[in-house]
Order: sequence, then C-alpha cells, then structure tokens
Amino acid sequence: MTIDLQQLKTEGLLAIKAAKDKLELANLEIKLLGRKNGELTNILKSLKDLAAEVKKEIGPLANEVKIILESAVAARHRELSASAWENAAAGERLDITEPALPHLDPGHLHPITQVGRDLEDFFAKLGFMVLDGPELESDYYNFSALNFAADHPARDIMDTFYIKGHDPAAPAGAGWLMRTHTSPMQVRALQKYGAPLAAIVPGKCFRNESTDARHEHTLYQIEGFMYDTDITFAHLKGILEAVAKHLYGPEVKMRFSPKFYPFVEPGVRGEVTCFLCKGRGCRVCKNSGWLEIFGAGMTHPNVLKAGGVDPAKYQGFAFGLGLSRLVMLKYGIEDVRLLESGNIKFLEQF
Ligand code: PHE
Repeated sequence: MTIDLQQLKTEGLLAIKAAKDKLELANLEIKLLGRKNGELTNILKSLKDLAAEVKKEIGPLANEVKIILESAVAARHRELSASAWENAAAGERLDITEPALPHLDPGHLHPITQVGRDLEDFFAKLGFMVLDGPELESDYYNFSALNFAADHPARDIMDTFYIKGHDPAAPAGAGWLMRTHTSPMQVRALQKYGAPLAAIVPGKCFRNESTDARHEHTLYQIEGFMYDTDITFAHLKGILEAVAKHLYGPEVKMRFSPKFYPFVEPGVRGEVTCFLCKGRGCRVCKNSGWLEIFGAGMTHPNVLKAGGVDPAKYQGFAFGLGLSRLVMLKYGIEDVRLLESGNIKFLEQF
C-alpha cells in the first residue's frame, strides 16, 4: 500500500509536469484525483478494509500525496496559463498611445419621424385614428378606386414603380405598384370602418422621378380624412388652419387655390405664408411669399361608393400633407435627397 502510494506520487508528478496543455492536465487530474474513479481515491476507499494500525500509518501518507498532487496540478495550470498568454502576446504589440474606441452614441429619431409623431399626437387629440397602409399597393386602390379613369393623364403625373410581371395593358386595377400617395387608404379605411370616420395615415410613398434637389423617389405624406353626415368645406379649412398654426405659429396665414385631383371635388392646393420671410418673399419660397404644403378637397362621391358608403347620406373631406416637405421647411433643408441618404453628419443635426 505504501509502495502504491509512493509510485502514484512519483509517476503522477512526472505526468503532471509533462502535461502539454490544459486539456491534458484536466484529464490527468481526473485520472489521478477524480472523486469517482481517481487512482488516489480508489486507494483511499480501500483503507476502510484495513486494520486500525495500518490505517493510522497509511491515512496521513495518502493525504499528503493528495495535497502534493493537487498543488502540482495547480502549479502546472499556472505555468500553462502564463505561456498561453505569452504566446498570444508574442504576436501583438501593445500601443498605449492608441486612441480609445469612440463613445457609442445611442442615436435619435429621424427628423421625419419626429415631425410625423408630433402630428400624430396633434391629430389624435382632435379625435382622429392613426392608421397604417400597405406600401405595395394595387393599381385598383392607388388609382381606379380613387376615380382615376384608366387612361387619365393624372396617372402620368404620378408615375411609379410597377411590380415585375405587371402588364401595363392589363385592365385597370389588375396590377401591383409602389403606392404613389397615401390616398388609397381613404377607400381601404371606408371599407373597413364605414362612416362616420376620422383618421390620418402617415407613410412612405414612391414616384418614378429623375431625382434632384426637389424630387426624390421616396417621400412621406400624411393623409387625413373625415366623413360624416354634415361635413362641409368649413371643417376642412378649420382643421388645416389648426395644423398650420400648430406647425408654424399663430401668425401664419393660409390660402387655397383650385387644383385638380380626381378623388375630390372641389380640389385645392393649400399654401401657408413662408415661415422664413413671413410672406415678403425670399429664396425658400422663390419670392412668392407662399409655400405649398398640402392637397385637399371634398371627397368625390365615386370614392365614397368605392368605400361602400352612400354618398347621398355621407360626405367628407380628405387632405394629403407633404411630410417630407414640412420637414424641409421646418429645418431649412434645401436638398430633399438628404432625407433618405443615411448620412450621419446630416442626421446628427436634428
Ligand atoms: N394624394 C394627393 C397627392 O399625393 C394629395 C391629396 C390628398 C389631394 C387628399 C387631395 C386629397 O398629391
């Protein structure tokens, strides 16, 4: 028994010293000292069958061997750790003059999101629902349901991206496209909720433009509409005047002039006095003193019909605010393309 222990100690120490890596060392530790089937453990377990005097002699020796082997394992472990670090460090150079990693900015909301959310709050307080609509839209909702005749030139003004496989010669309503405005939601919302109804729809729209400082293929609008049994043009005016004052202050003036949209009758273009020159004329308003910020009008009976609502009973108005436009005017941004550019230097200013 004593001999077994001595042998275990010498052979164990040699093997521990020779362990090439931590995995080999760990396996060795289990083999020698493992609680279940380690060699030393097995010797200790067999002690209980021995006579009391022998136990007295072997016991302390076995413990001693255990401690020696354990500390040898620990020492070898430290050696291996140190050499691993040295190996890794050998290929590296520590440059204490290197600048620290930049402080990570958690970021902030895009100016379009900021102005959009502000207007959502504003309209929610007036009792409007806030709805979301599909960006990939059918020709039917984007044009036909909004009273655009199949061959009406108004479709050309809103050229967009047609989805592959779309046949331009197909009958109206058959194809798919990227919506050119948020107006398709007038009909979708009427079909879903019926009248009376008041809602706004903020969202992305698309146009097939050759882009320049004033034109972009992706733009944002906020659609708004209200339908009930006694809605008049005065409601439209009142609501939009409130929006203009909310955006540009109580001094702002608003004017309407006739403009054709197939889905409203009468249709108007809405302008406000230039926020910069207060109507005197400047670079931003191209010396007119006025800035166009929305299209609007009284909903055409055909649109109400498409929405499943009886135009003899209900009427209402719709407007489309150019959200990208509002943001440009609010911050004096001169190139619309910056909004979609993802340029951090630009975005950090808001
Ligand atoms: N959808 C129109 C556009 O994109 C704007 C509009 C909306 C006009 C609602 C009238 C009523 O130009």
